[in-house]
Amino acid sequence: ILVYPRVLQNLFPLTALIFFFYTGVCRSPLGMSRGQILDEDISASSQWSDSTAAKYGRLDCEEGDGAWCPEIAGEPENMNEFLQIDLRSLHFITLVGTQGRHAGGIGNEFAQTYKIKYSRDGSRWISWRNRQGKEVIEGNRNAYDIVLKDMEPPIIARFVRFMPVIDHSMNVCMRVELYGCEWLDGLVSYNSPLGQQMTLNGQHVHLNDSVYDGAMSYSMTEGLGQLTDGMCGLDDFTHSHVYNVWPGYDYVGWSNESFPNGYVEIMFEFDRTRNFTTMKVHCNNMFSRRVKTFQKVVCYFRSELDWEATPISFSPVMDDVNPSARFVTVSLYNHMASAIKCQYYFSDIWMMFSEITFQSDTAMYNTTLAPPKTGPPIRDDPTHKVDDSNTRILIGCLVAIIFILVAIIVIILWRQVWQKMLEKVSRRMLDDELTASLSIQSETFTYNNNNSPSSVPSEQESNSTYERIFPLGPDYQEPSRLVRKLPEFSQTSEDTGEFQNVQEGVPHYAEADIVNLQGVTGGNTYAVSALTMDLLSGKDVAVEEFPRKLLTFKEKLGEGQFGEVHLCEAEGMQDFMDEDFSFDVIENQTVLVAVKMLRADANKNARNDFLKEIKIMSRLKDPNIIRLLAVCMSSDPLCMITEYMENGDLNQFLSRHEPEGMIALLSNAPTVSYSNLHHMATQIASGMKYLSSLNFVHRDLATRNCLVGKNYTIKIADFGMSRNLYSGDYYRIQGRAVLPIRWMSWESILLGKFTTSSDVWAFGVTLWEMLTFCKEQPYSQLSDEQVIENTGEFFRDQRRQIYLPQPPMCPDPVYKLMLSCWNRNTKERPSFQEIHHTLLDCIGY
Ligand code: ADE
Repeated sequence: ILVYPRVLQNLFPLTALIFFFYTGVCRSPLGMSRGQILDEDISASSQWSDSTAAKYGRLDCEEGDGAWCPEIAGEPENMNEFLQIDLRSLHFITLVGTQGRHAGGIGNEFAQTYKIKYSRDGSRWISWRNRQGKEVIEGNRNAYDIVLKDMEPPIIARFVRFMPVIDHSMNVCMRVELYGCEWLDGLVSYNSPLGQQMTLNGQHVHLNDSVYDGAMSYSMTEGLGQLTDGMCGLDDFTHSHVYNVWPGYDYVGWSNESFPNGYVEIMFEFDRTRNFTTMKVHCNNMFSRRVKTFQKVVCYFRSELDWEATPISFSPVMDDVNPSARFVTVSLYNHMASAIKCQYYFSDIWMMFSEITFQSDTAMYNTTLAPPKTGPPIRDDPTHKVDDSNTRILIGCLVAIIFILVAIIVIILWRQVWQKMLEKVSRRMLDDELTASLSIQSETFTYNNNNSPSSVPSEQESNSTYERIFPLGPDYQEPSRLVRKLPEFSQTSEDTGEFQNVQEGVPHYAEADIVNLQGVTGGNTYAVSALTMDLLSGKDVAVEEFPRKLLTFKEKLGEGQFGEVHLCEAEGMQDFMDEDFSFDVIENQTVLVAVKMLRADANKNARNDFLKEIKIMSRLKDPNIIRLLAVCMSSDPLCMITEYMENGDLNQFLSRHEPEGMIALLSNAPTVSYSNLHHMATQIASGMKYLSSLNFVHRDLATRNCLVGKNYTIKIADFGMSRNLYSGDYYRIQGRAVLPIRWMSWESILLGKFTTSSDVWAFGVTLWEMLTFCKEQPYSQLSDEQVIENTGEFFRDQRRQIYLPQPPMCPDPVYKLMLSCWNRNTKERPSFQEIHHTLLDCIGY
């Protein structure tokens, strides 16, 4: 902050700068109250007890017994008790604060008066005095209020001691703080001839260095004083704004009569060797009183021990027009030095300086930071500028930084506005779409009195039991929340927990009643509303009990979280069959069946889900849906007996096969013709048409969930999501939910909405699998996270979404069908009826 380049000086008048300086620049607490000053750097001459040790002398802190209290022994007037702070480096201290010991009302000790001593090297201690020479500072009046005192003159020191002035009347405790900033100038002392006295119209003008803290005899040695006190003198040297001081107070001045060589020599000592760029000398130029800036300066540099032979010399242009006091800037040409000796040559009878500052590598003070003693702005005289290159670089850098910052702000704002606009548009689209689709669902859902579902296909919505996932980029708003915020949306379902049906007399559809079934081998089976469950369930389960003893285990077909699937021979199964089913009859009355068994140790939830699945499955009767034949429920383990499909699941089946053509010929692999492929796809569409007509939402349609029987017969099943073979097809959200994200529509992933439309999306992916012969996972080049990001692109619909590519053997109309299944707008996706029709009529060979 102390860097105050000229460009800013020109922008702000110096009066503002003074205010700036006084209010904020060099008045920061140095760390007693906030703890930047470590306990080990706080010491004391003595302490009353451990709980009143030096480290408790921190302003505004209540630790220990609430303050530092010295041990008072002997006569108070002889006592020199002190609390000492080591700031570790030189600091410019402008303000001090003190407080007594209050300790929550128990304490009442404070220092009514105190003194300050300071040291730059830790050995020579200097008593601070104010500008009037007074040493004693008025302290506290009570134990709790903080009293701040300006240091006038400021202190340049590393060590500071607070010395309570103790009398007989009371014990003393103190808490203190120092305020200021680091002294980057590095100047530790200047040696100069004593300032002199001028007689002006019979009046004495004292041009001595009244605050010099070094030794003063014939000359001034080893101290700092007015030339570094941060106060610039007025244009009229006889005046000062410092209260109650003598004429000439601001300046240190010399008459040429006392200096036969024609110059005044001042030597400056620094804390270390530095690389000096400039020296700034604040000079009076009241030429009417025979006072002028120096006409020449010659500076010698001492690095290490020796003085350099060649000095630098500079002669400013004399100004006989403007009597203002001013800084004269002298370039020091990057000389390395730990001491500088300058000879300032008289150009008239008197020469008067009020400030001298140095700019070096680390120190970038500008002398104008020093608060002048009076108001009128002091500006550099352009004729005296010597080397402005640093300033120019600084200005250049500042301007560049400002431009960069402005550019960044503009970009950020632009991005935000743009994003907001996009979001707004997307939200509106999404809102329209969802509001419309929800109202359509509630409007079109019909329910006839004979407890059977309407054959009018309508979209069935199931709320996912899965955790919703929103792992898109940080700038991506969770759409479901966006949607939920929309008043129309919250009215439809989420707040009331149900979709209001607008049709008179039609029972409403409670979304909360959606049932998610857990397949015995792991995941869910079909999602179905409780209403549909009632429709389906009737009084009894529409399937008969099968005598367990007539089942003979053949082999294990699969295993899941909640049970196993076995291939069994079932004796007498014909009695349980409809005439539309034919089974492999082994010997006389034996058929092969698949038996799903619930693990004996399955929990209650799994058991309930198993029972629900039985209820639902028992009512599903379609040539393309796996058929439940019988159950074993009279004893554990609970069993579901389904038809057996000898070719296993479609995924494995197609993986084992090749399309007809060269590759198959060369590899001698079994083939599946396109027309068989088409036949199988049509069967899946047909099965799904049936399910959708019942408002069943499958939620996991994929080749892995379709079974292949003889002659390319297909039956849709649901094996759940925990089959090891297909674990890679499911995205696991931190061990909680597993989602077949590569088959899922954008709204299922982002909104958790599973509908027949999202089953249509999955059908498109299933078709794609089939036409690639399941040789590749969908979006195999994308990671799970990228798939989800791609879902975000489907939502944003800015043509950045990636579609599955057209498989090599896929006819255009089939790919077109797939693309229609992946339409962003759920309403624009085809129904299964349409899909089935298209496959049957249009794109078969
Ligand atoms: N694996 C699980 N269920 C099956 C079934 N019904 N047919 C063939 N394999 C199966």
